[in-house]
Amino acid sequence: MNTRVMIETTWRRRHWLFRLSPGQIWNYLVGAFHLVLKRERVSSFPGVVKIDISPICNLSCTVCVHADPNGNDALERQRFAPGHKMTVEQFRKIIDQIAGKTATVSLYTWGDPMTHPDLDEMCRIAADAGLQVHVSTNFSFGFKEDRLRSIVESGLTHLTVCVDGLSQEKYQKTRVGGRIDRVLHNLRRVAELRKELGREYPKLEMQYIKYQHNLDEVEPARRLAAELGVEQFSDFWGALHNYADREPDQYETLRPKPNQLLPQCYWPHFSMVIKYNGDVIPCCEHRMAAQHMEGGDARVFGNAFETSVAEVWNNEEYQKARRIVSNPEVVNREPELRKHFCDGCFVIFDTEIQKNSRWANRHRWEEVFEMDERGRPRRKPKDVTGLPA
Ligand SMILES: C[S@@+](CC[C@H](N)C(=O)[O-])C[C@H]1O[C@@H](n2cnc3c(N)ncnc32)[C@H](O)[C@@H]1O
Ligand code: SF4
Ligand code: SF4
Repeated sequence: MNTRVMIETTWRRRHWLFRLSPGQIWNYLVGAFHLVLKRERVSSFPGVVKIDISPICNLSCTVCVHADPNGNDALERQRFAPGHKMTVEQFRKIIDQIAGKTATVSLYTWGDPMTHPDLDEMCRIAADAGLQVHVSTNFSFGFKEDRLRSIVESGLTHLTVCVDGLSQEKYQKTRVGGRIDRVLHNLRRVAELRKELGREYPKLEMQYIKYQHNLDEVEPARRLAAELGVEQFSDFWGALHNYADREPDQYETLRPKPNQLLPQCYWPHFSMVIKYNGDVIPCCEHRMAAQHMEGGDARVFGNAFETSVAEVWNNEEYQKARRIVSNPEVVNREPELRKHFCDGCFVIFDTEIQKNSRWANRHRWEEVFEMDERGRPRRKPKDVTGLPA
């Protein structure tokens, strides 16, 4: 995350800003002060805490740790179990510690938050503590009316619904196992219920990930969003690679990026990711597959259930993270930093990660995938762009 990404993200969440308390605004300002001064220890709290209440998902999207492995070793080694869920009590303890300082909690990372049976209660706990609550979902669930009402009444601030196509044929090319009729039904009903119940929140966002094959449905989707009363329509180019292709052991790291005036990543000063089991990592941009892989090189910073959030936030690993992003060249002087989570990250190192990346503005789905006999996408044994399966 750099200045441009931070401004874009803030703009997408602009209707939250006037709901921030003086304490939350002050916390952000203190965080910004520490960032500009490249401080390693900070007296602010993370402005945004991503709480991965469960990494479980009902779909197998092609980009994701949940993708059909089709022989890919890293994906074969992913492990997800029904018990991989944060409890309400564990969640409440985190919220108690960050309330009054942290502005926002985002209740997802690698799974779908709607799979967690206590999501609505968690939203209520966070909202009652004065936090903005964000959820992003595939929304491809056969929800009954009372569940949709419960979501609307949960205190959720912002609901992002992923609509990557309007026709089932196009949608399922990347949203594997999903049903677009359910997604659109749920979104429509949430918008209607919000109106019927006279509520202003949750604000609704339709997120449209673009691929060459679904471009003709972008404008109809935008019109549909407006018709439903959805506040935001966001579209961006999608990835046709898988997160596992971008693990640091899959590409060459050339050199650290040269020092600049400001830190080159803002995550370690402003945000924290807490996994369902309490483990803490600084972001969801790097070592993603390793987080769920048996024997994966996850390099977690600490555990928010075993110590306090504040303790982890200023522990040695967090201080190292702030040191590295403040001047990536420090790894040349301190070789032990090569064992750190951030080592090899494309944000602060020149790398050859682009060789493993397949962005949809440059590549077509057919170059990378074919449909198998069950009608599910399968990576071609060697895609025509040269990326090995
Ligand atoms: C791993 S998902 C977890 C949340 C939820 N299950 C969902 O899909 O929105 C996190 C983010 O990845 C995005 N995403 C999914 N497929 C993508 C793709 N092919 N390229 C880029 N981002 C993608 C999702 O839309 C979401 O914003
Ligand atoms: S819905 Fe989200 S978490 Fe689930 S497989 Fe797709 S991208 Fe991954
Ligand atoms: S790995 Fe470190 S440098 Fe890279 S995005 Fe995450 S926090 Fe920033």
